[in-house]
Amino acid sequence: MARHYYIETMGCQMNEYDSDHLSRILENSGYMPASEPEEADFVLLNTCSVREKAEQKALSRLGRLVALKKKNPRLLLAVAGCVAQQRGMDLFDRFPALDLVLGPREIGRFSEILRKTENGGTRIAAVNVHRTPVSFMGRFEYFRNSVKAYITIMEGCNNFCSYCIVPYVRGREASRSPQKILEEARELVVQGAKEITLLGQNVNSYVYEKTRFPRLLQRMNEIKGLHRIRFTTSHPKDLSAELIQCFAQLDKLCSHIHLPFQAGSNRVLKAMKRGYTREKYMDLIHALRQTQPEIALTSDVMVGFPGETEDDFEQTLDLIRNIEFDNLFSFKYSDREGTPAARMQEKISEDQKIERLTRLQGLQRGITLRKNKDLVGKNVEVLVEGTSKKGQQLTGRTETNKVVNFIRDNAYINKLINVKIKRASFNSLFGELT
Ligand code: 5AD
Ligand code: SF4
Repeated sequence: MARHYYIETMGCQMNEYDSDHLSRILENSGYMPASEPEEADFVLLNTCSVREKAEQKALSRLGRLVALKKKNPRLLLAVAGCVAQQRGMDLFDRFPALDLVLGPREIGRFSEILRKTENGGTRIAAVNVHRTPVSFMGRFEYFRNSVKAYITIMEGCNNFCSYCIVPYVRGREASRSPQKILEEARELVVQGAKEITLLGQNVNSYVYEKTRFPRLLQRMNEIKGLHRIRFTTSHPKDLSAELIQCFAQLDKLCSHIHLPFQAGSNRVLKAMKRGYTREKYMDLIHALRQTQPEIALTSDVMVGFPGETEDDFEQTLDLIRNIEFDNLFSFKYSDREGTPAARMQEKISEDQKIERLTRLQGLQRGITLRKNKDLVGKNVEVLVEGTSKKGQQLTGRTETNKVVNFIRDNAYINKLINVKIKRASFNSLFGELT
């Protein structure tokens, strides 16, 4: 009887990409996908540890998966991703039934590790963070049969922002060769991809020999049959004038950038070791808008970093009012073991964090809604991805990455179409075909 596998993915798109790779290895090793963990012989949880909440969620999910082993003692249970890297062997103490702990930089060795796990006898913790990233190992058919595809072009981070766990769990920056990336992109287009998102923890610091990120984008722009290019996530300190120019020069590059600012006060930015000031960030936004007036801006921001005063927080609100982001991802700061911020004094109380987050989100809600309403009556191009959550409508995204729903006609799935916006809410737009 065929063996089955089940992978559950938490966290970012980099993890999605890794899970896709792990699936392929399992399929090449004779496994078939299972629709439920209860039906699988191999279960893997790919985890995120960027914030405390994500890590707790991963550990509690793992607890429930471990229970499956009581019913099926032959089940192999693995944990991968950033929690695996961070906790390592300690996970065996907490979950003795666990068979494998696999760090993000060990995925390239997964087929060999899988064989050892199957042979049984020993539990394996593979957590060397200095190995070659998996995206460097050949070419794969990621996200098959989708109009939207993703390519990891660099992994790791060298920035060591004082609150962030990523450099510890994902290792140092490493960029893939442009030839490999372009080859993979062309292949994805042949398979039907119309939009490709280039991924990296610090995507705009991509550099391979003499090729820097703007050059890679130029070459991506030359790919026939590709309609849209996106990239994420960018760091303000590496946003060059040349990259900003790409938004004017490259017709396939979508008018949207996700550019985390984290805090609006220079004192806090310094303590975070972000490497830019509030003024520098505002200048970048100004230059982006000058180059491409339609550009949509999204960002990440944190409240309650150690020592954040009411005045610091006001400056964050002020920056949000000034810039008017299209959307914001906002978080309460949480300690990540091993980072400098975790050792800082002057921690902000949970109540205070909740209060600030609520105020911030209220402010942004109004801005997002107003921006969405401004689009009513306008014509936009939408890449249709499929049916909406409720199943009654088709759904897709504008070039600026906003969700548009409209009355369904399945013939439009996977196509680029023009839609006139009729209504707008906080979460999405509703349109009609033009
Ligand atoms: N606490 C809260 N939020 C964090 N982020 C990163 N580290 C932490 C932390 N320790 C947020 C940042 C980052 C996003 C992915 O998660 O805003 O941009
Ligand atoms: Fe989570 Fe960051 Fe790891 Fe992605 S890289 S899984 S966001 S901790």
